[in-house]
Amino acid sequence: MLADRSVLITGGSSGIGRELVRQFVANGARVLTTARRESALLETIEGLDPDRAFIVPADLGSRTGREIITTEALRIAPIDVVVHAAGILGPKARLADYPEDAWHEVFHINATSVHLLHQALVPLLAPTATIIGLASSVGRVGRGEWGMYAISKAALEGWLEVLADEWEGPVYSVNPGGTATAMRAEAMPDEDPATIPSPADIAPIFLRLARAEPGEPSGSKFDARDFIGADPLAGA
Ligand SMILES: NC(=O)c1ccc[n+]([C@@H]2O[C@H](COP(=O)([O-])OP(=O)(O)OC[C@H]3O[C@@H](n4cnc5c(N)ncnc54)[C@H](OP(=O)(O)O)[C@@H]3O)[C@@H](O)[C@H]2O)c1
Repeated sequence: MLADRSVLITGGSSGIGRELVRQFVANGARVLTTARRESALLETIEGLDPDRAFIVPADLGSRTGREIITTEALRIAPIDVVVHAAGILGPKARLADYPEDAWHEVFHINATSVHLLHQALVPLLAPTATIIGLASSVGRVGRGEWGMYAISKAALEGWLEVLADEWEGPVYSVNPGGTATAMRAEAMPDEDPATIPSPADIAPIFLRLARAEPGEPSGSKFDARDFIGADPLAGA
């Protein structure tokens, strides 16, 4: 389905990013994935075709980390698809109490680093590469005590809107909705993960968007839950 498409996925050591790496490789893509934890990245690619799955341990938040990623990304260039799945939750706290250090860190990872990585990757991207960002329900409609996480995801969607207007290829913002991952468990410790979709349930929407053809819509915002078992681009 994605034969020989080159894909870069951030946040591949856990949760949604990890599942996307596995499903993209299983569907024929060549995938380079990145996150800080090398051992967790190695777990992600265990059993996958070594000619199609590559890892780069690096911190997206640092210039050095982003340079390491772009240097390694040369091996899959030109890149057809980038999925910006890395993100952090930060503390759940009212704005009045929100710690200043976390304010800066969460914005830096969830918004600024996506922009800076994109800038660094531009020379390696195919001219009509597909760019996918991971949004959040609390970024679309702010919710108390989600603090900078919500604000940074709203900012990320703003960034994706601007990019969609500038970039030749498709740009998509996908809100996974509550999905059973480590981040979700941290955010909602009392929730039974069996009651919400798994990363595997929502991965097909990313696979479909990754093979958008020229002329299919760009700049679109999707709620992954609406498209479990359905084509997000059908009739769009
Ligand atoms: N799960 C949900 O319910 C949900 C809902 C809405 C939106 N989302 C969004 O979906 C995306 C994936 O979330 P998830 O639930 O799969 O989260 P997760 O399991 O916590 O995974 C987050 C990933 O981000 C990576 N990461 C964090 N900081 C990094 C840094 N400084 N440098 C490089 N990599 C970094 C982590 O890797 P390392 O720790 O190894 O660096 C990990 O691979 C996030 O953007 C999240 O905001 C999730």
